[in-house]
Amino acid sequence: MTSSKSKTLNPAIVRDDFVPAEDYTSRDFLEKEKQKLWTKVWQVACREEELKSVGDFVTYNIHDESFVVVRTAEDRIQAFYNVCMHRGRRLTAGCGRTRVFHCNYHGWRWNLDGSLNRILDRDDWKGCPSVSDEDFSLREVKTGTWGGFVYINPDPDAEPLADYLAPMPDFIDPFEFEKLRYRWYVSVKLPCNWKVALEAFNEGYHVAATHPQLLENAGDDVTRSFIYGKHGMFAYPTATRPWGAPSPRTGKPLPEDLRPGLVNFFDEMNHTLRAIYTERDTEAVRRLMTETEPSADINTLMEPMVGFQREAAEASGAGWPEVTMEQFGKAGVNWHVFPNQIFLMYFDGALCYRARPNGDDPDSCIYDIWSLVRYAPGAEPRLERQNFYGDDDWKNFGAISIILQQDFDNMEQVQKGMKSAAFNAARTSPLQETSVSNLHRWVRHYAMEEDRSETGRKGTAAGGLPQ
Ligand code: FES
Ligand SMILES: [Fe+2]
Repeated sequence: MTSSKSKTLNPAIVRDDFVPAEDYTSRDFLEKEKQKLWTKVWQVACREEELKSVGDFVTYNIHDESFVVVRTAEDRIQAFYNVCMHRGRRLTAGCGRTRVFHCNYHGWRWNLDGSLNRILDRDDWKGCPSVSDEDFSLREVKTGTWGGFVYINPDPDAEPLADYLAPMPDFIDPFEFEKLRYRWYVSVKLPCNWKVALEAFNEGYHVAATHPQLLENAGDDVTRSFIYGKHGMFAYPTATRPWGAPSPRTGKPLPEDLRPGLVNFFDEMNHTLRAIYTERDTEAVRRLMTETEPSADINTLMEPMVGFQREAAEASGAGWPEVTMEQFGKAGVNWHVFPNQIFLMYFDGALCYRARPNGDDPDSCIYDIWSLVRYAPGAEPRLERQNFYGDDDWKNFGAISIILQQDFDNMEQVQKGMKSAAFNAARTSPLQETSVSNLHRWVRHYAMEEDRSETGRKGTAAGGLPQ
């Protein structure tokens, strides 16, 4: 990056209500992210369930870099730059199981732990500098696990993963994400910057306009977002209407019987999202209609509703996490783990997103979507990764999820619109979209080191939710 190039970037400071447009559109900004952000942060590479046996590996690509994450022992996962140390061929691709990493070009080989296994005609290098086994071993990067997710960090001086994620696990650990397994796994190429894609899932403010059908049963849809260091979350702490009721925006009255709305909510989500809430939850909630009173308020309904769902999960052998109602309330609805992971959770399921830049193109990204469910051991479906990598594949996502298609339908237009001469910044809501602006504050913290003194806003929670 030349200094003249960096001068083209607007040094404007991100505010809760202001995110410079170039963060999404500038090639220079993307290059800075590549050099200074992705090389320094913990980022989710895969799930532990993808690395069941020794030798199982998954490749993780970010920009034009690639890593291979591999189980090297029953209790050990390691990750390496996915490159041959001879003449630079990518070592492997996709995922699978292997005993050694073998380069197809000239046949150099490495053991699973990255140590050198073989160099063809090694004596050719006799007398040359830097030719020890060590010199030729694969270059390792840091790994860590939390909640069944495997994270990597290319920075050798990176802080421990637990410190990086804090305080998020305090809220989420009771949900036992490590016991979730893939219900489905989809990866889609989207015609927008990785942050445009991620942010479509980092606030609830868009629901009224983008998913109007969800206003029928989800209660008051006004959100508040909260910042926890680099990470963020949104929830509904100011809701004036309970779950199961139509949003006040609909103009519809508060129903006397909330039960049909709750049943409809689960039905709707199960059919149009196919994630967070399980089919098991959807069936179990029907018991409300016969086993509770029509006049019961939401506080009276929550305990039996969750109880029915727990019974169903335990009867199936899936088990249920010990999450108290207080923990459930405090955990909020939707978390952003800096820089590029989002998840929403219920007691026995979660929906996780990961956005990655697609090579060096600021107008394209790869969006991974993981529906996770708590299954009885051995009852989980076989993992199939579905890739939608054609240019227009994202337009045909409705069969997977109607709700996600509605989200995707905004993204291309956002990316185009942000390049308009009339648009210099996103004017994010200082109450409902601080999770979005905070992402940019921290991306800039890494990507534009000269801005660092202006960042570092920590632990503030707009709206007053206790941390
Ligand atoms: S490039 Fe890999 S062995 Fe030659
Ligand atoms: Fe959405």
